[in-house]
Amino acid sequence: MPTTLQANDPGAVQAAAQRLADGLLVGLPTETVYGVAADACHATAVQRIFEAKGRPSDHPLIVHIAAPIAPANTDDSAWGTAVAPFARNVPPFAWALMRAFWPGPLTLILPRQPEVAAVAAGGHPSVGLRCPAHPVAQAVLVAARAQGVLGVAAPSANRFGRISPTTAQHVAEEFAHLTDADLLILDGGACAVGIESTIVDATRSAPVLLRPGAITAEQVSAACGVAVVARDDDAPRSSGDLAAHYAPRAKLRLMTGPMLKTALQILGSDAQHIAVYARQPLRGTRKLPVRRMPNEPQAAAHELFAVLRELDAPGVRLIWVEEPPEGEAWDGVRDRLSRAARA
Ligand code: TXA
Ligand code: MG
Repeated sequence: MPTTLQANDPGAVQAAAQRLADGLLVGLPTETVYGVAADACHATAVQRIFEAKGRPSDHPLIVHIAAPIAPANTDDSAWGTAVAPFARNVPPFAWALMRAFWPGPLTLILPRQPEVAAVAAGGHPSVGLRCPAHPVAQAVLVAARAQGVLGVAAPSANRFGRISPTTAQHVAEEFAHLTDADLLILDGGACAVGIESTIVDATRSAPVLLRPGAITAEQVSAACGVAVVARDDDAPRSSGDLAAHYAPRAKLRLMTGPMLKTALQILGSDAQHIAVYARQPLRGTRKLPVRRMPNEPQAAAHELFAVLRELDAPGVRLIWVEEPPEGEAWDGVRDRLSRAARA
């Protein structure tokens, strides 16, 4: 089993930074989800991530960077220094997005410095960069940088195709097949956002939304003054694009409220092996595992993956989920649920 340290234990952050500098893996809390991290410029270390996750090696990873020293009045030159080791030809709208949303739950796909982080980028000519806001992630990034680690590749800390982890316990469950020599996990509590970062392609003249998250397309357009354009076939592909992703073991089905109600009524007391995640209280669910979906999209995102893991219990064959409400604020939650339903 991997070892888990409380992130605020004395020496925990330093131990994690040392592991990264040694080319080993660290399970790291961020404000979105937990990541499984390695030195982005260390090809063997990055290869260990792909192996641990069972992820195809052409699926690019996000590189995480430390915030500049004085983030409160961070200007383009400070962000320039932070991203320069990895990215070049940064378009003006991307600087505006860094100023507006970094440190935070936004990943920018930028043209990659050709000699750098090729394995982490899955061989693509671009690189995904993110400056996470979580204080533990920042502390580890700063401590690792002091040891020469310029950036940390960290995909979500789940086996390929599975539900992303939002607690240290989830990470330990996902990587139970690894030893404590392979993986050190830092426990920084439950992730505040709960779904992965918004991904914006910034390799072309206008921003393209590749993955919805807590930061909406409308907020991206407003912050940089350039309208987000619809993705087309030239946009970089991402593994979050895969139809089958975020998969529980049970079959997940999305249904409208009335459909869910009718289906439960028809089954009556025969309803079994079913778990329910609904926005309304429902009759006929007394003997079933049931969770209520919060009315606020942020609250729903925060608990989504933990609820799916909880409902995906032994004996449950179907997870019936009521469709989230309309509206852009729900795009991230709707996206994760519809991919889970297609798995
Ligand atoms: O919130 C997050 O972004 C979390 C935390 C740990 O930071 N990380 C995360 O990583 O979700 P991952 O690997 O599970 O998802 C990253 C997504 C993938 O869909 C990947 O294909 C896409 O980002 N991506 C990364 N680099 C890319 C690139 N150069 N071009 C296109 N897509 C890229
Ligand atoms: Mg992932």
